[in-house]
Amino acid sequence: MQLQFDTLNEINKYKNPLTVYKNISKLEWKNGDYGKQSWGSHIHKIAPYVGRIKPSFAHFLIKYVSKKGDTILDPFCGIGTIPTEAALMGRIAIGNDLNPYAICISNAKKDNKKKLKDLISYIENIDIKTDEIDLSNIPEWVREYYNQDTLKEILYTVDFLKREKEDFLLGCLVAISQGHRPGHLSKPCAWTLPYKPRPDDMGEYRELKPRLIDKVKRTYKFSFEKMSPMTIHFNDARKLLVDDNSVDHIITSPPYYNTLDYVTSHRLRLAIFGMHDEDEKKSLKNDLIQHFNSYIKDIEIVIKEISRVLKPGGFCIFVVGDHFKGKLIINTAEELTPVFLRNGFTMHGIVNDKIPPNKSVQKTTKNEKFERIMVLTKN
Ligand SMILES: C[S@@+](CC[C@H](N)C(=O)[O-])C[C@H]1O[C@@H](n2cnc3c(N)ncnc32)[C@H](O)[C@@H]1O
Repeated sequence: MQLQFDTLNEINKYKNPLTVYKNISKLEWKNGDYGKQSWGSHIHKIAPYVGRIKPSFAHFLIKYVSKKGDTILDPFCGIGTIPTEAALMGRIAIGNDLNPYAICISNAKKDNKKKLKDLISYIENIDIKTDEIDLSNIPEWVREYYNQDTLKEILYTVDFLKREKEDFLLGCLVAISQGHRPGHLSKPCAWTLPYKPRPDDMGEYRELKPRLIDKVKRTYKFSFEKMSPMTIHFNDARKLLVDDNSVDHIITSPPYYNTLDYVTSHRLRLAIFGMHDEDEKKSLKNDLIQHFNSYIKDIEIVIKEISRVLKPGGFCIFVVGDHFKGKLIINTAEELTPVFLRNGFTMHGIVNDKIPPNKSVQKTTKNEKFERIMVLTKN
């Protein structure tokens, strides 16, 4: 009798792949309020990231694939959209990425247990010792974005918050270190990509503390909702720090070929966070999977890792965009399908989601470009 009960439980443990595929095909995250960039918890809005997915997209993938209490891993979590949404939805969330700026923001989202009034008085009491900061080892191109007194305040406080392991405050500070609003600390420049500030802009002094306090208040506008445990690993997806057969589902949007450069796009915030040495950046670029010629080989190593950590029957939802070969658009999902099949996965279908032309990174061709959602399970 007991055996029969266990077997039934095993059968009901996972959702039907065909139903999951059909649900995803409804593209519900594109409708009504879900279609707006602003949908979702305020915690998603701490900082921008090139290649970030919409929180509503993460929400529906998590909802269709898993149930409360399941463990979800995103091996390429960026600024943590998928793990954060999973934790908000009562799943146990694990994120992983190699980009220090992305990890800084993911960790900020995880560090959400403190009271607003305590955070404010903590900021007020920081003794910012700008005389301890020597700007001579900060590259000229970074200094150009700031009033020098403001930059000293930023660098001192970043270092202080790192030592104190105040991840939420650190994420808020790195976030406001670049942007065009009065609440940002740089000379006016874009919030996502650090286009150079105007050369004739002398850069007024922008005091750090009131701006950081305002940022914290904005992020706490609706207070943090209850979240399940969330773990973030600063690590290579080819060698995950996760036990064998321990994850219920994988949901991820990996890099696809060299369509985005996660280092150059975030160079200013990376520099503020401590990575301004050219060799260090080169080495990070080398370690990230964004090289055209080795892409399939590198992703195959990740797929083997995913297969190691995923429980049999667990879902793997892989979201990839098309890429370009010259002027030809190549379907990345079709290229990856045989790689999954030879590594012990079953493919249940690929959902095609058309990318609106203004979201397309390269517009060198009239052909349509798609985001492809691969629905797979581990055998
Ligand atoms: C499409 S982005 C993911 C964005 C994420 N879904 C979000 O909403 O922020 C792909 C991510 O893969 C990361 N990445 C590239 N190579 C990696 C590697 N070898 N190990 C871990 N992460 C890597 C990049 O740093 C980037 O953050």
